[in-house]
Amino acid sequence: MGRKKIIAGNWKMNGTPTEAVALANSLKDKISGSASDVVFCVPAIDIIPVLEAVKGTDIQVGAQNIHFEESGAFTGEISAKMLVDVGVKYVVLGHSERRQYFAETDETVNKKVLTAIKNGLIPIVCVGESLTQREQGITVDLVRLQTKIAFKDVTAQDAKKSVIAYEPIWAIGTGKTATNAEAQEVCAAIRQVVREIYDDATAEEIRVQYGGSVNGGNASALFAEADIDGGLVGGASLKPEFEKIVNY
Ligand code: PGA
Repeated sequence: MGRKKIIAGNWKMNGTPTEAVALANSLKDKISGSASDVVFCVPAIDIIPVLEAVKGTDIQVGAQNIHFEESGAFTGEISAKMLVDVGVKYVVLGHSERRQYFAETDETVNKKVLTAIKNGLIPIVCVGESLTQREQGITVDLVRLQTKIAFKDVTAQDAKKSVIAYEPIWAIGTGKTATNAEAQEVCAAIRQVVREIYDDATAEEIRVQYGGSVNGGNASALFAEADIDGGLVGGASLKPEFEKIVNY
């Protein structure tokens, strides 16, 4: 027990470097030194200026994607090594928007997870169901499968340090949050599949976040659930409200 909470802002494609630095500066004093790990997952071009802005605080900077190859002829892509070189610690992988708009699959997510870990990045692996899938009653089956494929060939030692974000697609950016019980149920199911793949120790150590319309009003109740170790926060991470979530 005693898992440290991790609260990550997923800024998505928002904020020019100038705006990103202003946002980081406006938040950093209010959220550094919190009891949780705090990460700003920012657009690629904002990474270096935001790293500079949060220097001297305990806020970490994360990326939102990598390519699964180490280097080469992949125009427009960014490698894990490039991120590590500038001081990035985390990377969001397999976000539902990347699966939906950029054709990422469980298999490519797995390749990216392996490349991230190999280079020393901590993956925040996103899983979650659509509204149709929830209505069909296959949520738990689906996230179990997504988790199993994402962690194929990942060692227990590396899985322990990783983060999984349970993000029901119908709750992302919709203002429609999963109930605390719904979020807890699926986060517990994810921890259970980690237990089945690895062992009790890995299941107890890996951190499972909830994401999907987390805000200043619902964060503390969600984070109080036994298997919810923090949040992946989209819209509210761009607002002063993010402080309320971090200091929930
Ligand atoms: P949201 O996004 O908080 O705006 O719903 C969450 C996410 O997509 O990570």
